[in-house]
Amino acid sequence: MNWGFAGYGRIARKFEEGLNHIGHDIVAIASRSGASDINNSIASYDNYEDLMNDPNVDIVYVNTTHNTHAKLTIAALNAGKHVLCEKPLATSAQDVKEMISVARANERFLMEAIWSRYLPGYQKAMKLIKSGVIGDILHINANFGFRMDPGAPKKRLIDPKLAAGAIWDVGIYPISLAQDIFVDDPVSMHVDAQLSEMNVEDRCAIQLSYDSDRFAQLTCAINLNTVNDAVITGTKGHMIMKDFWKCERFILIASDEESEHHYPMESTGLCHEAIACKDLIEAGQVQSPLISWDHSTQLAKIMDKAINMARD
Ligand SMILES: NC(=O)c1ccc[n+]([C@@H]2O[C@H](COP(=O)([O-])OP(=O)(O)OC[C@H]3O[C@@H](n4cnc5c(N)ncnc54)[C@H](OP(=O)(O)O)[C@@H]3O)[C@@H](O)[C@H]2O)c1
Repeated sequence: MNWGFAGYGRIARKFEEGLNHIGHDIVAIASRSGASDINNSIASYDNYEDLMNDPNVDIVYVNTTHNTHAKLTIAALNAGKHVLCEKPLATSAQDVKEMISVARANERFLMEAIWSRYLPGYQKAMKLIKSGVIGDILHINANFGFRMDPGAPKKRLIDPKLAAGAIWDVGIYPISLAQDIFVDDPVSMHVDAQLSEMNVEDRCAIQLSYDSDRFAQLTCAINLNTVNDAVITGTKGHMIMKDFWKCERFILIASDEESEHHYPMESTGLCHEAIACKDLIEAGQVQSPLISWDHSTQLAKIMDKAINMARD
């Protein structure tokens, strides 16, 4: 399976390292600002359209700024390519719906690149939780916050025109975790946010309530380093996923016993989602059971609402 990249920024280079680790081929890279360091054996385009028209490309990895995901993904799907699109899949539930309908019409694979979900540590922790080892889950507390360089902030993190803000950038991880466990649509939401001068969330606290006794308390930030663990509490114990968004270690507290578990990721960790894409496509699937179209739609609806409430 041959990969083509739409965009060649920071995460693309990490993904490239992951693909090299598992021996997947990158055959083309499109970057409007140019990528002088591309290997000679890889086609290099200064526009995204040429990438979509490259017959050697089987799957496009969309890794551009959030505002461009929907348009590029739809162009790739209509050109007959499969797509792995960086998170968030789009900046509205309406766009996500359209992307899915284009994938369905073209019978092409489409997945939102929430890489955490394919990490061995994350998967093992979820398997234990879903086996009932800590009982019925009643509470989730999860954070993902980092402090961008205040002297030289990345434009894509602060500029509303590029669909910036903490919720789309990192809030999606704790929201995805909560939905992975609670599955249902939340019945109510409470949001508090610290907004930047450009009116995007620098920091945000989101509480999701599912019914009378299931809650998720989630925070995200692009201006504060937080402890990015997830603490999942059930009727029979707790699961503490250390750095849950890149989980390689978790602590299980069940039946009054505490145990620590380690599941290292390979390479940069991004190779795990790439392997899943290849396996699913070769099996004739158009979506992933772990990051299904329903899951991405649900995330987009929650983020739409949370962002509206935060920026109100
Ligand atoms: N999975 C993860 O762990 C992870 C980590 C970080 C980021 N991400 C996601 O990956 C995506 C890219 O993040 P990044 O940190 O790699 O960003 P980045 O380094 O800033 O690169 C962004 C790319 O977007 C392209 N682009 C398209 N339109 C643009 C515009 N109007 N302004 C600026 N750049 C534009 C640029 O390519 P051109 O040369 O063509 O303009 C550039 O290659 C985002 O969706 C982000 O949420 C995921």
